[in-house]
Amino acid sequence: MCIIDSTYSLDVLPQEYSTCGVGDMRLTSAEVEHANGSFLLDLRYVEHTIHSGKYALEGLPAFHGDDWETLSVVLRDPSSDVEIELLYGVCEAHDLITRSVRITNRGKEDIYLHKVMSLCLDFCRGDLDLITFDGGHTRERNLNRAPLRQGEQGVSSVRGASSHQHNPFVIFCEHDAGEENGLCYGAALLYSGNFDAKAERCQFEDTRFVMGIHPYGFRWKLAPGERFTAPEAALICSPDGFTPMTHRFHRAIREHLIRDPHPGERRPVLINNWEATEFDFNADQLVGIAAESAKLGMELFVMDDGWFGKRDDDTSGLGDWQVNTSKLPGGLEAFVPRIKELGMKFGLWVEPEMVNVDSDLYRLHPDWALGEPTRPQAFGRSQLVLDFAREDVRNYIYDAICKVLDSADISYIKWDMNRSLADVWSSALPPDRQGEVYHRYVLGLYDFLERLHRDYPALFIEGCSGGGGRFDAGMLYYTPQIWCSDNTDAIDRLKIQYGTSFCYPVSTNGSHVSAVPNAQTGRCTPIETRGVAAMSGTFGYEMDLGKCTEAEKAIVKWQTEMFKEHWKLIQEGDYYRLTDPFRNLDYTAWQHVSPDRSEALVSLVTCSTRAAQPFIRLRLKGLDPARKYSVNGSENLYGGDALMYAGYPFPLFSGEYQSVQLYLKSKTNP
Ligand code: DGJ
Repeated sequence: MCIIDSTYSLDVLPQEYSTCGVGDMRLTSAEVEHANGSFLLDLRYVEHTIHSGKYALEGLPAFHGDDWETLSVVLRDPSSDVEIELLYGVCEAHDLITRSVRITNRGKEDIYLHKVMSLCLDFCRGDLDLITFDGGHTRERNLNRAPLRQGEQGVSSVRGASSHQHNPFVIFCEHDAGEENGLCYGAALLYSGNFDAKAERCQFEDTRFVMGIHPYGFRWKLAPGERFTAPEAALICSPDGFTPMTHRFHRAIREHLIRDPHPGERRPVLINNWEATEFDFNADQLVGIAAESAKLGMELFVMDDGWFGKRDDDTSGLGDWQVNTSKLPGGLEAFVPRIKELGMKFGLWVEPEMVNVDSDLYRLHPDWALGEPTRPQAFGRSQLVLDFAREDVRNYIYDAICKVLDSADISYIKWDMNRSLADVWSSALPPDRQGEVYHRYVLGLYDFLERLHRDYPALFIEGCSGGGGRFDAGMLYYTPQIWCSDNTDAIDRLKIQYGTSFCYPVSTNGSHVSAVPNAQTGRCTPIETRGVAAMSGTFGYEMDLGKCTEAEKAIVKWQTEMFKEHWKLIQEGDYYRLTDPFRNLDYTAWQHVSPDRSEALVSLVTCSTRAAQPFIRLRLKGLDPARKYSVNGSENLYGGDALMYAGYPFPLFSGEYQSVQLYLKSKTNP
C-alpha cells in the first residue's frame, strides 16, 4: 500500500542544506553538473560526528581557538556519489556558530560545481526584516532595512572583491527589533571575493537564507577524489536586539579571528602622507611631515602611494616595486633611518595585485594581467589586475615585495586594491577551468597574505581597497585592521562607522583625522570633532600637521595623549550605538564601556545647527546602575542608574559640527 503523507514535502520542510531539482523549489544550496549533464542533487544523511576543537579550512580564513566543538554531517547524493560534508563550529563562549561545506567527488567521472553555498538557514517564519550594509566608494556600509517580501531578495557582489557597494554581513530580525530588544540573527561571510547573500520568503511563510560564493562566473571542475571547500560563514543569534549581537561579534572577531602580530599591545598612532601630498613628494618633505607629527605624539610614519617605479600619478608604475630614487635618493636604506631617528616606526603602502600598462612589468609580461588576448581590457583607475590565480605571478610579486621589506626596518604595510575585477580570464588555465579564476584569485590573495604572515611575523598589515571596498571578515584574518573609507569627512564618517560597527570591532576600523576643507566633501569641521570621529577606530592622522596653527597643534597633542590613555577602553570595551545617524540628523552619539563597567567614554557630535535647539539629554548604556561615576573628573558623582534611565544633560551647542567626550570613571564598587 502506498501512503501519501501530504505534510511531508521537500518544498515545505526546513533543510540544513537544500537539494537541487528533486522537489524543493526554493533556493538551492548547491548546483552540480554531473557527467551526464544532469544537475539533479538529492542529499541524504549518511553520518555525523562531534569532536572537540575547531575544524580548519585549508587556504581559507577561519575562526580558530581552543574552546570549540565541531559537528560534521555527511550527506550523499546516492545516484552520483557526490558527497557533501556540512561543518559546524560551535564557540559557546561567544555564542557563535560557524559553518562551512566540503564537496567531494566520490564518483568516477569529472563533475562541475556551479554553486556551493557556505550555509543554508531555514527560518520557520516569514515575518522578518532584512538589514544590509550598502553604499559605494566613500559611502560604505550604510544601513538598509526592509521587511522581507515574498520572493527572492538579498545582496551580492560580482566585482571580484566583497565591494564598497554591499557588505558580506546581513541581519535578519523581527520587525520591531532594536538595539536592546527583539530577536535577531547576524551572518558574516569570511570571504573577500564575489559573494551572494540571498533570502527567499516562501509560499508558506517560511524563509530560506543562503550565503556563499556568488555563482556568477563560477564553474569549478572536480575530478574523481577531489574536494572543494566553501568559505566559512559565522552566525550569531541574539534574543535581545542588535547590541548584544554586536558585542559577541566584536569579541569573537578580536579573540578568535584576528591574528594581531602584537597581541595585547597598543598599536602606534600613525601619520600617513596621502591626503597631504598624494603622489607629489620628496624625501625632505616627508621627513618634515614626520618630524612635526612626532612632536605631537605620532609614532608610525606611513609612506603612501608614489614611492616606487615611475609613479607621479595613477597612470604608471604599478608592478615596479623598486624605490623611485629621484624622490627618495639612496632608497629606503637612506630614508627609513631618517624616520627612525625621529623615534618613529616606518610603514609603507603597496598595491601588489595591480599593474599599469606603463610599467616595466607589463612590458615584460602582458599576459600576467587578467584578460583575453583578443579583447580590449577594461581599465579601472588606469590599471589592470594581475592574475593572482597564477602561482608564478604571485611568486614574482612576492619576491619583489620581500626585497623591499628586507631593505629597511619596515614594521607595517598598507595593502591597497583600487579597482574591481573585470576581464576575468587567465592565460594559465584551460577553457574548462576558466570558471575557477574568480575564486582562485581570492585563494591566491589569501596565499600571498599567509606567506607574509609566516615570513614576517612581526609585520602589521592594514587592508585597504579604495577605502572600505574589501572590508570583510575574510580579510580581517590576514589584516587586523582595514582602512574604513576614503571618506575622511568627520560627519560622513559617523554613518560609515555606525554601519561598520554592527559586525566589525572598533580595533579593525582604520580612521584618521585629515585636513579641512575635507578632500572628499569640501566640508570644514573643527579639529576637535575630527579627532572624536577618528578616535572611534584605530586613530591616526593624514595631513601635514606643520600647516596647523599652534592652537590646533596643542589639540592634536592632547588628542594623541588621550587616545593613548584610553585605547584599551576604546578598542576592547563594549561598543554601544546611542543614536542612529540615519534617523537622528541632529547629533550622533556612541559609547565604549570597559568589560568590568568601571569606565566608559561617551562621544557626541552635532550634525546640524538651528536656533532654540532642544536640550540634549542622552541616556547612556552599559553602566552599572548600582555604581556612581565621575564625569570628566568631576567632584559630583552620577549614579549609573540616573545616567542610563534619566540621561546626562549636555550644554547647548553653538555652531556647526561640535563635539563632546565624557570620560566616566566609577568611584564605588558594586
Ligand atoms: C586608495 C586608498 O584608500 C587611499 O588611502 C590611498 O592609499 C590611495 N589609494 C593611494 O593610491
